[in-house]
Amino acid sequence: MVKVGVIGATGFTGEELVRLLIAHPGVKITYLSAKLDKGLPFSEIFPKFKGKLELICESLDVNSALNSGDLFFLALPHRVSFQIAPFFLEKKKLVIDLSADYRFKDPIVYKKFYKIAHQDKKNLKKAVYGLPEFYREKIKRARLIANPGCYPTVSILSIAPLLREGVLKNIVIDAKSGVSGAGRRAYLDFHYVHLSQNLTCYKPFGHQHLPEILEVLSAITGKKFNLRFTPHLLPLERGIFITVYAQLAKKLRRVQIYKIYKSYYEEEPFVRVFKEGLPQLKEVIGTNFCDLGFEVSGDNILIVGVIDNLIKGASGQAIQNMNILLGFKESEGLE
Ligand SMILES: NC(=O)c1ccc[n+]([C@@H]2O[C@H](COP(=O)([O-])OP(=O)(O)OC[C@H]3O[C@@H](n4cnc5c(N)ncnc54)[C@H](OP(=O)(O)O)[C@@H]3O)[C@@H](O)[C@H]2O)c1
Repeated sequence: MVKVGVIGATGFTGEELVRLLIAHPGVKITYLSAKLDKGLPFSEIFPKFKGKLELICESLDVNSALNSGDLFFLALPHRVSFQIAPFFLEKKKLVIDLSADYRFKDPIVYKKFYKIAHQDKKNLKKAVYGLPEFYREKIKRARLIANPGCYPTVSILSIAPLLREGVLKNIVIDAKSGVSGAGRRAYLDFHYVHLSQNLTCYKPFGHQHLPEILEVLSAITGKKFNLRFTPHLLPLERGIFITVYAQLAKKLRRVQIYKIYKSYYEEEPFVRVFKEGLPQLKEVIGTNFCDLGFEVSGDNILIVGVIDNLIKGASGQAIQNMNILLGFKESEGLE
């Protein structure tokens, strides 16, 4: 049994990590921490875990955490992870960070979009971007995994194969997310009365996930390019739905496009490409799947991608990365 800890266990992604890890046959949760809800049994904070997990949720103490486990998930806000990860890495522990702190190769881009200078450039260089469909071999050898953002996961999976084959141009990603994407400590914009029966657009030209999408797509395709990315807030608990509008750079029939997707994802346990029809959010909620579908009309292509932001967009993908890293079956604990 591999001993694992969840730092930031009471957040939305932390709670989801705990739920999934309890059911995983190869690991045992040995450490949980939070900032405000501390010193209490985890099953008292979240009664759904009664009888399933008897562990106190601690106030983070790095030394006792270090003695308790082999691998740590950091489900922390950005700016906090890079203060904590170095202690674990120094003691040769494995770290899977769910925040944005280790996702960018370039600390200047990080500073521009997260408004703070990066404080752990040494480990930033060693971090591996944890998108298994494109970085599986690197993930196997990583000690620090930067788990991708939720919008980037579905955006990159939706377009990377076609971009790499030089098939897409003039790309616009119209993205919509459920409210859990914003974390558990809600503020006014996430008040029920404001959200219910409402739909809002936010950060249309400056969302912090745009540079992440561009950096990873450039690394995957070996080309620099641009695209438009516009996020919206849906009055739903969870889920991300993206619609990609683009033009085909060459004349292709539907079946040829399907073949391209198939050549990338046929063996992937968590990407399902629809031969006909478009995917729906409901079919992926509670799962680690990313479902993709597309329609073609002349030289226009529309692609739809859906994921559960808390699973394939965060905690499920983190466990998929852990499985690869530790040599478990990739879908262990996620089926
Ligand atoms: N939500 C999503 O859909 C999603 C998807 C992909 C990635 N992410 C990323 O994953 C990370 C966690 O997201 P989340 O939605 O789970 O956030 P969250 O709900 O706000 O939870 C954050 C957790 O970190 C703890 N924490 C906050 N500040 C801390 C500090 N200074 N020291 C120790 N613990 C601290 C919190 O404890 P208290 O509650 O006690 O303060 C809580 O347990 C974020 O970086 C987020 O960007 C989130």
